Amino acid sequence: MSELSRRPAEGVVVGRALPHESAGLHVTGHALYTDDLVAACADVLHAHPVPAPHAHARVLRLDAARALAVSGVVRVLTAADVPGTNDSGVKHDEPLFPDTVMFHGQAVAWVLGESLEAARLGAAAVQVDYEPLPAVLTLAEAIEAGSYQGGRPTVERGDVERGFAEAAHVFSGVTEMAGQEHFYLETHASLAVVDEAGQVFVQCSTQHPTETQEIVAHVLGLRSHEVTVQCLRMGGGFGGKEMQPHGYAAVAALGAVLTGRPVRVRLTRQQDVTMTGKRHGFHAEWRAGFDAEGRLLALDATLTSDGGWSLDLSEPVLARALCHVDNAYWLPHVRLHGRVAHTHKTSQTAFRGFGGPQGMLVVEDVIGRCAPLVGLDAREVRRRSFYVDGQETPYGQPVRHAERLAAAWRQLHDEADVERRLEEVAAFNATHAHTKRALALTPVKFGISFNFTAFNQGGALVHVYKDGSVLVNHGGTEMGQGLHTKMLQVAATALGVPLELVRLAPTRTDKVPNTSATAASAGADLNGGAVKDACEQILRRLAEVDAGRGLPWHDLVQAAYFARVQLWAAGFYRTEGLHWDSTAMRGHPFKYFAYGVCAAEVEVDGFTGAHRTRRVDIVHDVGDSLSPLVDLGQVEGGFVQGAGWLTLEDLRWDTSEGPQRGRLSTQAASTYKLPSFSEMPVDFRVSLLQHAREDGAVYGSKAVGEPPLMLAFAVREALRDAAAAFAPDGGGGTSVDLASPATPESVFWAVEDARSGDPDRARLVRGAPGVVPDQPAPGEPALHPRSEQVQRDLLAHEPGRDGSRSAQVEA
Ligand code: MTE
Ligand code: MOS
Repeated sequence: MSELSRRPAEGVVVGRALPHESAGLHVTGHALYTDDLVAACADVLHAHPVPAPHAHARVLRLDAARALAVSGVVRVLTAADVPGTNDSGVKHDEPLFPDTVMFHGQAVAWVLGESLEAARLGAAAVQVDYEPLPAVLTLAEAIEAGSYQGGRPTVERGDVERGFAEAAHVFSGVTEMAGQEHFYLETHASLAVVDEAGQVFVQCSTQHPTETQEIVAHVLGLRSHEVTVQCLRMGGGFGGKEMQPHGYAAVAALGAVLTGRPVRVRLTRQQDVTMTGKRHGFHAEWRAGFDAEGRLLALDATLTSDGGWSLDLSEPVLARALCHVDNAYWLPHVRLHGRVAHTHKTSQTAFRGFGGPQGMLVVEDVIGRCAPLVGLDAREVRRRSFYVDGQETPYGQPVRHAERLAAAWRQLHDEADVERRLEEVAAFNATHAHTKRALALTPVKFGISFNFTAFNQGGALVHVYKDGSVLVNHGGTEMGQGLHTKMLQVAATALGVPLELVRLAPTRTDKVPNTSATAASAGADLNGGAVKDACEQILRRLAEVDAGRGLPWHDLVQAAYFARVQLWAAGFYRTEGLHWDSTAMRGHPFKYFAYGVCAAEVEVDGFTGAHRTRRVDIVHDVGDSLSPLVDLGQVEGGFVQGAGWLTLEDLRWDTSEGPQRGRLSTQAASTYKLPSFSEMPVDFRVSLLQHAREDGAVYGSKAVGEPPLMLAFAVREALRDAAAAFAPDGGGGTSVDLASPATPESVFWAVEDARSGDPDRARLVRGAPGVVPDQPAPGEPALHPRSEQVQRDLLAHEPGRDGSRSAQVEA
């Protein structure tokens, strides 16, 4: 449709560099979050969990008598109180009040008190007898025990065996990466009230109000129209509030229904960290073939994610991981298996990038480790392997605008002065024995849309009042990413009115129903499309009223009202052209790809492994930006969060056999190191790719929420190169195996490996060129170190068969 435009001169508000719509409230401390709303709520009860002290145990007896005797305790919630279904998982595998404990710290009951302290004392007085059971904790243990859950999809294209036979270089190895704690500033919070007619109203810090509504209804045995969920704003979600809030909302709602009083659930930081899901750690076994020019030719990999105790979003996260192993590279022959381990940990969940980062880390690790053995700079292997327009991803989607990647790569070389600085780095390293620097470049290609086609819809409700002011409701939630700011800009632009005339109302399920999670970075695309649609409906009606007279906005609105013309509209948007077969793992799941490139320069201290990021340059593609300041913030924030995951943040569970087994030992900011000011790049330069209009997306813009996180791979690759520079050969031909996260400790060991000059430091198995792998050449080690267990699992399981199960809930 041609863009309806009433008064272009006044109305073009998209593209303006505006501050976040709540920036003033944020910085003055006046912005309200769910738990602040308690202050305006009389008679509120406070909920406190009864945490289990085992990673896996049967609940033999639960006695609340002593808790009820504690002063101020009002009620103890247990499974017997649930009027509907005792389950808060979308996959129906998450008992809200469990009879079997599945992770250390899981709540087996909740206590309601007049104060939080009363509830806490009550929770401590609840008597629970447990029968401890054996717990599977690590990915290695799960693989060994064959402990999996959900489907096992396979993405395949070409003929990997032929690829390996034709390859000039073949290597195999293992790549492991840790998960990540979301550490949003606002912990999980819900506040529930029930009105005189039994209508349940839950204010919740949720990225997915509709699903929270559905789970609350499910637990209470109500219909969706009896439950309303509102999300004013979140103090960060990062994926951690896509599926995880539902159970806490259900506890609050259940308490409110049973007591008739408002009930508040708000986790402390320690509870939030120990009870809620995180980014999935992954284990990958792979074999990679390169052609004589150093291009990737074949890749065969098995990715195993650590799902924790329930499925949650693990299947769609795995699907996105498999769809991003290619990153920016053409892989002629590829076979990727995926599976989700079942472990006795929190249920791992969505986290910015949603599996994409984990999948992409595999191929970046492959390139980083193999390039020196291929005899090329990793930067060159990357460039030579880039997609060119028209080539297809392993799942069959043509890569459009691949030339933007090459353009951004060239632009970055100029802006970051790469060639000259590489010389400087070499000169520095030649004169410094104990400190080494490196400069590395990595690309990002990230698919935008939910893999699961049905989720790619958005809704909005736009009201124009008689005085010409505009109120916008849309189905997306605000978590700091600036979605509301963009929606204000879209509405003002579409209606051709000044920004001051437009206001946003909180996200509520009774205003816009059946919404998708604000996730997959698609918030602005989907809700922006819907807001624009609503505005255009109104405009079309107004155009008839105006009949070419060119009335000013206020007069036009007045005239329309008196002519009895509808001044409000419900808007709807669905992303066209998508299809996805989750069984075959093929299709066209993404509307477009977001591209970016990053150059990072680091310095490593050879005595300690301590490192510092000297300079970062980024060129990122957001299409025609809807809101450049917001987008810049997203690029910077995403990058820093990625760098935190890759170089600092180190989740540790107690794996000893004692009673602490399965306890998360990194429960606070004191033990879990997050990026802060001191970890920022000393010199940080971000530019948005120019002339990057994306046709078919709202005002030519592209999604920005997640893709920049993966720009941080450049930091990890620079650390690898800096460690290699400690090798006797100065680094050029030295393959370094760097753990993820590359904490100072990990970097120290990588430096030690490099210094040793030991050829095994790469922990890679080199194949003989041109020989069909799995048939080791005489004297060569086995080309494929795939453990027998993995081999057996793969044979026992026909890949892709139960992939369909992941179709129910996918992001
Ligand atoms: N930015 C801030 N400040 N806070 C957040 O919680 N979440 C990220 C990203 N940027 C997040 C953020 C994640 S995981 C996603 S999917 C997107 O924002 C969601 O919002 P969008 O779809 O509107 O981009
Ligand atoms: Mo983002 S991980 O899709 O909420």
